[in-house]
Amino acid sequence: MTESGTFVWPPVPIPTERLMLRASEARDRAAFVELFASPEVGTYIGDTRPRDELERALPEVPGRRPGCFVVARDGTMIGMITLDPRGAERRGHVRPEAGEAELGYLFLPEAWGHGYAFEACAAALDWFTSTCPGEPVVLSTQSANDRAMRLAAKLGFTEVEWFEEYGAEQWFGVRPPATPAG
Ligand SMILES: CC(C)(COP(=O)(O)OP(=O)(O)OC[C@H]1O[C@@H](n2cnc3c(N)ncnc32)[C@H](O)[C@@H]1OP(=O)(O)O)[C@@H](O)C(=O)NCCC(=O)NCCS
Repeated sequence: MTESGTFVWPPVPIPTERLMLRASEARDRAAFVELFASPEVGTYIGDTRPRDELERALPEVPGRRPGCFVVARDGTMIGMITLDPRGAERRGHVRPEAGEAELGYLFLPEAWGHGYAFEACAAALDWFTSTCPGEPVVLSTQSANDRAMRLAAKLGFTEVEWFEEYGAEQWFGVRPPATPAG
């Protein structure tokens, strides 16, 4: 984030071994509808919306905002990654002034189980580290969300605290800024 708290956006597309991280485009709209309508994706998020409502309500280019990466495989969107400031009203902070960058990840069910989310999140975190050196990244997920918990651990997030929010137990973790070598 810049000193005013925003990213320079959109970034140059980021390639990984199998994927591409880029800003959202109009051709991704159907995948956004799929993602937000999927009961599997929404299991631990509790925000699934009817497909027809999404078709009407989503903008022409959903997710076109700073910090929202579309993850594409062979040009087609398979998921999204967000790095948003964590609101001061939420529980779970590592800074008194709040607003820490919070990592979020949502992938289409057919893209689970291939290591894509890990590959894409690792690249997004590398991008974040080079864009905002010295900044921690936080993450919260329902503790029952095994896949999200395993991914957080693989990405190097460590536990800060557990708490109750949205009627469920939440795990809150941090990925401390990398310390300079030597
Ligand atoms: C959370 C979520 C992104 C995790 O997806 P995922 O595919 O399980 O995560 P990873 O990319 O780390 O992939 C790990 C799996 O890929 C497998 N895999 C296959 N090929 C692989 C490879 N080349 N490299 C790494 N892992 C590979 C791993 O063995 C592992 O499988 P397992 O979970 O059956 O043991 C996904 O479940 C999701 O979008 N859920 C819905 C949204 C959500 O709840 N988000 C969290 C909100 S906080």
